[in-house]
Amino acid sequence: MRRGPVLTLRSARPKRRRLGSIWGHDLATTLVAEKPEHHDAIERVLDAAFGPGRFAKTSERVRERGAIPEPILSRVALDDAKQVVGVCRIWRVKAGEVVYFLGPLAVDPAAQLAGLGLALVRDAVAACRAKGGNGVVLVGSERFFKPIGFSVVPEGRLRLPGAVDPGRLLWLELARNGLNNVQGEISPP
Ligand SMILES: CC(C)(COP(=O)(O)OP(=O)(O)OC[C@H]1O[C@@H](n2cnc3c(N)ncnc32)[C@H](O)[C@@H]1OP(=O)(O)O)[C@@H](O)C(=O)NCCC(=O)NCCS
Repeated sequence: MRRGPVLTLRSARPKRRRLGSIWGHDLATTLVAEKPEHHDAIERVLDAAFGPGRFAKTSERVRERGAIPEPILSRVALDDAKQVVGVCRIWRVKAGEVVYFLGPLAVDPAAQLAGLGLALVRDAVAACRAKGGNGVVLVGSERFFKPIGFSVVPEGRLRLPGAVDPGRLLWLELARNGLNNVQGEISPP
């Protein structure tokens, strides 16, 4: 079975992937674009993965201040029983130029460490690239996102509406020179 990015806007067909085994159970998941009916289950996964501190994050301030959700580019992971076990959301924001803002990313604790988190990010980023855009910005662990090509934003180049560890502010260029004019406060597009 194929590994790596599994869904593009061109194909728009969900593909199944087998992500190894957790506690003796084979994990098969399907990555799909986010739909309204996933909403409640996504909330449950976010609560379970982040705990009560999830709304205190500076990234939440970006999202609640008018970032535009991009459900077609966002990805939800469904297990064999069609239950939501992971999510990677994409938003449209502006910082000099329009860029995508990635997050929250979360995998149900029972399904973690099987490759699903990286698969969700790879697929969402592939969808952003296929749609066309300058780049993707996020707040997260450089060690986790580096294999997909994210790197630390040069200090002082971008500002968020709240405190952020500069070593956790990451970006990825989608188009050639796409990030050249991306700078300043991340705000609604
Ligand atoms: C972060 C998270 C989405 C990762 O999902 P996952 O399915 O467990 O991740 P993967 O199995 O794809 O991990 C891929 C690699 O990243 C590593 N990794 C996992 N979580 C990591 C983290 N928080 N920081 C750094 N590396 C991490 C894994 O060990 C693995 O490395 P390996 O290939 O060398 O073994 C998941 O742990 C989660 O939901 N955490 C709580 C919410 C959160 O912190 N979200 C991220 C905010 S940016």
